[in-house]
Amino acid sequence: MDIKEIRKDFPIFDNNNIAYLDSGATSQRPRQVIEKVNKFYEKANSNPHRGSYKLSIEATQAYEGSRRKVAEFINAKYPEEIIFTKNATEALNLIAYSYGMDNIKNGDEIVISIMEHHSNLVPWQKVVKKNNATLKYMYINDNFELDKNEIESKITKNTKIVGITHVSNVLGTINPVKDIIDIAHKNGAVVVLDVSQSIPHMKIDVQNLDADFVVFSGHKMLAPLGIGVLYGKKDILDNMSPFILGGDMIEYVYEQDTTFAPLPNKFEAGTQNVGGAVGLAAAMDYIESIGYDNIEKAEREVVEYAISKLRSLDFIKLYCTNNLENHLSVLSFNVNGIHPHDVSTILDSVNVAIRSGNHCAQPLLRFLGIDSTCRASFSFYNTKEDVDKLILGLNKANELFNKYKR
Ligand code: ALA
Repeated sequence: MDIKEIRKDFPIFDNNNIAYLDSGATSQRPRQVIEKVNKFYEKANSNPHRGSYKLSIEATQAYEGSRRKVAEFINAKYPEEIIFTKNATEALNLIAYSYGMDNIKNGDEIVISIMEHHSNLVPWQKVVKKNNATLKYMYINDNFELDKNEIESKITKNTKIVGITHVSNVLGTINPVKDIIDIAHKNGAVVVLDVSQSIPHMKIDVQNLDADFVVFSGHKMLAPLGIGVLYGKKDILDNMSPFILGGDMIEYVYEQDTTFAPLPNKFEAGTQNVGGAVGLAAAMDYIESIGYDNIEKAEREVVEYAISKLRSLDFIKLYCTNNLENHLSVLSFNVNGIHPHDVSTILDSVNVAIRSGNHCAQPLLRFLGIDSTCRASFSFYNTKEDVDKLILGLNKANELFNKYKR
């Protein structure tokens, strides 16, 4: 894979030598995606599923074609197992409100990991409070990983739902989700798997994983903002009640009652983000054209280079597993004596973009005994030069803030 050529696909890098190290928050988009979205708005824009005129039929075909593409991309058995949402957060709320509220009973337990993003945590707090159930946590070890013992001790016959992120958006730890799914199923629990931080970097096969629900956002994987996916096993989705009510998700509406449309429409009320779905399908085409093998290889080289450089700085504390085969893309760290917001402002002054803060994972940071970190997150379009700029910026921050302390 020729990185120089790949970067030319991303208009944001034209005449801009930014070291963009915030792809974990949102990735950049290649022109192949932007062009497909523009083409939809220029040539086929209209409301899908509503009109019987040609343009509306084209919009329906574009939308349903995108659904088939997503199903194929993650190896879902049926296209109607794909529900388009705004993002992973909306997908998780859909599961919590539709599945969680109806199925969690007094005394039941929901188990999640301490490294969950708030979106796979706060909705479960609401479900357990409303239903007199308990929210339990699987904690990480000193190497920022989940041990099998910890998993097995928390997931029991009382567990009805397990919520787990495939890759931590703070630590970059890859969780042993196949084991977790297996243990959950042996105990009769369903698994909600958040692949938002993994699917931009590695192949996701929902049938192989056997997760009951899988969610992700398009905008972290080269697609437009505002489109996300909920995958659910058909028999589970069929038995769930709808989350958002309104147009296009109904079958018959009477003055006092309503029957609902079959999947997937039951979960897609109102006019949908067709342009976003088209962009997501184009992003998946683009990823396939490069190949996950090449993506992983390119990213590993740059991320491992970054890890070795960061570890060589005595003023940096890195929050990252030592088993690099269990890690990808995200590097959280702190600079001695400097608040992460100050670090990121100094980095911005040398055109390096990172995220700082709690990364929507306050319980994890509290568990680690800190309240914020700097986070550099990578994509295949990043280079070792980006890492060199980061290191240069960190040295500058250290000089500026710490020179009077010595
Ligand atoms: N969830 C996104 C992140 O981790 C916004 O940065």
